[in-house]
Amino acid sequence: MLPWSLLGLPSVKASVTAGLFVTVLWNLKYVINLSDIFSKSPKHTKPLMILVWEWPSKQAPNISTDICRDLYNIMGCRVTLDRGLLGQADVVVFHHDVLQQNRDKLPKEKPPGQSWLWVSLESPTNTKALAGWKQTFNWVMTYRRDSDIFIPYGKLVPNWSATVNIPRKTRLVSWVISNYHRTQKRAEVYKNLSRYLHVDIYGKANKKPLCKDCLLPTLSKSKFYLAFENSIHRDYITEKLWRNSLMAGTVPVVLGPPRANYERFVPADSFIHVDDFESLAELASFLKTMNSSHYRQFFAWQKRYSVKLYTDWRERICTICTKYPSLPQGRVYPDLESWFNA
Ligand SMILES: *[C@@H]1O[C@H](CO)[C@@H](O)[C@H](O)[C@H]1NC(C)=O
Ligand SMILES: *[C@@H]1O[C@H](CO)[C@@H](O)[C@H](O)[C@H]1NC(C)=O
Ligand SMILES: *[C@@H]1O[C@H](CO)[C@@H](O)[C@H](O)[C@H]1NC(C)=O
Ligand SMILES: *[C@@H]1O[C@H](CO)[C@@H](O)[C@H](O)[C@H]1NC(C)=O
Repeated sequence: MLPWSLLGLPSVKASVTAGLFVTVLWNLKYVINLSDIFSKSPKHTKPLMILVWEWPSKQAPNISTDICRDLYNIMGCRVTLDRGLLGQADVVVFHHDVLQQNRDKLPKEKPPGQSWLWVSLESPTNTKALAGWKQTFNWVMTYRRDSDIFIPYGKLVPNWSATVNIPRKTRLVSWVISNYHRTQKRAEVYKNLSRYLHVDIYGKANKKPLCKDCLLPTLSKSKFYLAFENSIHRDYITEKLWRNSLMAGTVPVVLGPPRANYERFVPADSFIHVDDFESLAELASFLKTMNSSHYRQFFAWQKRYSVKLYTDWRERICTICTKYPSLPQGRVYPDLESWFNA
């Protein structure tokens, strides 16, 4: 028989090593996308030309210089709004707003070799006029993880110099709401929850809008934030989580896709899910009675990560050039609506 040390120890060692490796992988999984590492700048001699048919935000920025190089260090990427360059563009970007307003605004035909990219950050509930887009778009760029180009509202980035920093708390729960509709799930949950605890409400719906610079300092005073999405869809996790909760230094109480879906974006111990409780009375009591050591545990992620928000369309558009070499060529979405509603 072999001695214990030969049998037992190596396997203990191996499993510890494997365990560490798994932990490291788990920590990296929502931070690093392998395709980001292996596909640097495109190997084109002439720059890729990205024609943005209509700029997605109200005010188009000045993109007359090489913005991708200057702002994001992405080389060989030319972004233009000049529709006269349609014949030369490698990619044409269509934000869904354009499609929603007027179908005829699209070019009549697609030059050979050109790819059309459909872009949207809204959920299916808030997306109109999606029917009938068949065999039109080659790629999609949305908040959904299974998009050709995934554009989340935010993410956690590793930060080795990060430290836990919990703002001073004087309030229990807050919520910013601009469009209140009684029929929305979030309105119903709020209404029931508010029978058991007080919620500080800000935003247009309550005629207490917060100015841009007041938002984070105001919300940071609350221990918890109601990060309730306006509609419930897979991967639809917006700035309500990233900015109003995590960046503000409050603990998110989320209403949205299931817990497992959130856990693909942020650590399991960084948020409270409405579905974790049998009733809203239980949720309220959990929030009201939490002691400070328990509360602090929700900030463990701050030891290793910082929040990165994505708010600038220039950054999203420039990402197209980084992803371009790894995107499938010659593919087309047979039916956009059925993809988006899946
Ligand atoms: C855009 O930026 C360029 C370079 O900085 C400048 O020359 C040009 O005047 C700007 N255009 C507008 C409309 O501001
Ligand atoms: C990393 O954390 C430090 C300390 O909190 C902060 O000052 C710095 O801005 C963070 N870096 C990034 C890239 O977010
Ligand atoms: C809210 O309360 C009502 C009345 O007690 C109940 O019927 C309903 O299911 C509750 N809704 C939620 C989302 O908890
Ligand atoms: C704080 O609450 C946690 C969870 O309920 C509990 O396990 C822990 O013993 C409490 N700590 C103190 C100091 O009361």
